[in-house]
Amino acid sequence: MSLTIGIPRETYAGEKRVATVPDVVEKLRKLGFAVAVESGAGDAANFADATYEAAGATVVGSAAELWAASDIVFKVRAPSLDEVAGMKAGTTLISFVWPAQNPELMAALAAKQATVLAIDCLPRTLSRAQKMDALTSQAGVAGYRAVIEAANAFGRFFNGQITAAGKVPPAKVFIAGAGVAGLAAIGTAAGLGAIVRANDTRAEVADQVVSLGGEFVKVDYEEEGSGGGGYAKVMSEGFQQAQRAMYAQQAKDVDIIITTALIPGKPAPKLITAEMVQSMRPGSVIVDMAAEQGGNCELTVPHEVVVRHGVTIIGYADLPSRLAKQSSTLYATNLLRLTEELCKTKDGSINVNFDDDAIRGLTVIKEGSVTWPAPPLKAPPPPAAKPAMPPPAPKGHGHGAGAPMAGSTLAIVFGLGSALFWLVGAYAPAAFLSHFTVFVLACFVGYMVVWNVTPALHTPLMSVTNAISSIIAIGALVQIAPPLGEAVRPENWIRGLAFVGIVLTAINMFGGFAVTRRMLAMFRK
Ligand code: NAI
Repeated sequence: MSLTIGIPRETYAGEKRVATVPDVVEKLRKLGFAVAVESGAGDAANFADATYEAAGATVVGSAAELWAASDIVFKVRAPSLDEVAGMKAGTTLISFVWPAQNPELMAALAAKQATVLAIDCLPRTLSRAQKMDALTSQAGVAGYRAVIEAANAFGRFFNGQITAAGKVPPAKVFIAGAGVAGLAAIGTAAGLGAIVRANDTRAEVADQVVSLGGEFVKVDYEEEGSGGGGYAKVMSEGFQQAQRAMYAQQAKDVDIIITTALIPGKPAPKLITAEMVQSMRPGSVIVDMAAEQGGNCELTVPHEVVVRHGVTIIGYADLPSRLAKQSSTLYATNLLRLTEELCKTKDGSINVNFDDDAIRGLTVIKEGSVTWPAPPLKAPPPPAAKPAMPPPAPKGHGHGAGAPMAGSTLAIVFGLGSALFWLVGAYAPAAFLSHFTVFVLACFVGYMVVWNVTPALHTPLMSVTNAISSIIAIGALVQIAPPLGEAVRPENWIRGLAFVGIVLTAINMFGGFAVTRRMLAMFRK
């Protein structure tokens, strides 16, 4: 018998998102489920009841009917205790739950013999789990919206313009914390034409900042901020002091600050002091995305917009809900991917399989017994040690410049190289020398090409070099049709093999160029 997935209307004040959208309803039905939607559930996100019905869902009139009819409930916000009271025993709930913050809710759900998959408990380090990662999809929307909120409150253009009415300088945006939300904000602000700078305690994100069009600003203090699993750790007092000095400088210079700094399980680090706010130009804007965790700015009022010293400080904690159609669509797709994992048999039933690390991590209550927190995942193998070489300096500014090779060392290397060449030239056969010269030049050109390409573009570079390697097709062509003047034709089986070779290299060649084009298109604005 196929199970019914129910989508209630969100009851949290001001929440506009909905847990599934009509396009996804069709896909859930293909997996064998029946779908019931509470009337009006999608209204605030611009999905009318009729569109759900057209996709094959049944629209029911009230929340009570919906909860009673559903075997599985998809929600965005954690349910209220009233909602749990109306839930039928043994229901499966998939939603944000935040079990650590909501012990009372956990007890109520367990008492209902519920099975609860908390989307916020997904083990995010599993690459297989990325498609279900609603924290990431929602933080991406939030980062985008933070820039739009800032642009709305800011009195000028983001991009620089030269018009008949005068010259407008580009806005300067500083982003504190380059996690998921921060990176989305960098891409959005750079797309609008602002000058974007960003800082994070984890040095590993610097390349990502640059590839999205931002400049990574380093704190002048050596300390690695990675606490494992892609999250940050609390930094030493010395680091914090150096960071405050750098932030104070940025505050004086920029027009907009967007703060996203967060260390899981800790109150948000206070990065923007009242004096820094005071030092900003009137009309500047701060969007404090960490408002709900206490704020990265001392003057933030959670959920509100306040003006202090002429600076607008935005403390909204519902940024994804302010772009409800987009965030609901992404969330619905995250839940669809999870449902596919739960229903491998595509027959409208689910199997909460604890051998699957992603599902084990998500499941906080199974048939009434609390299974949270999940045991830690087996640690992945440690990353290979980084080469001692300093990172290449980004062009146009002095941060992180590697020391150039000293003149004397360079002279020695060249001297030794020339001597080696002379020896090879004097003693090796002539054919060897020409091959050796080509080899050395190829190494040199290869090195220069790879090292001068931004790391973000290394994958398209690899696919294009792969396509170019299809030059070996020439070998096969020569076998099929021997060069003019050679009377002997190769045997048929050799020509047959050469033909197969040409077909395979053609796939490599055309496929390689096609993949490169697609990849490069992703980087084009
Ligand atoms: P994340 O964990 O991916 O990113 C946080 C980043 O802050 C990390 O890269 C971390 O290294 C960095 N960081 C930590 N301490 C720092 C410090 N002292 N200085 C500089 N960087 C530091 O988190 P995500 O998903 O990007 O979320 C960012 C923030 O936005 C969180 O506070 C989250 O709760 C909030 N958020 C707010 C929403 C809203 O509506 N206001 C919606 C979604 C997320």
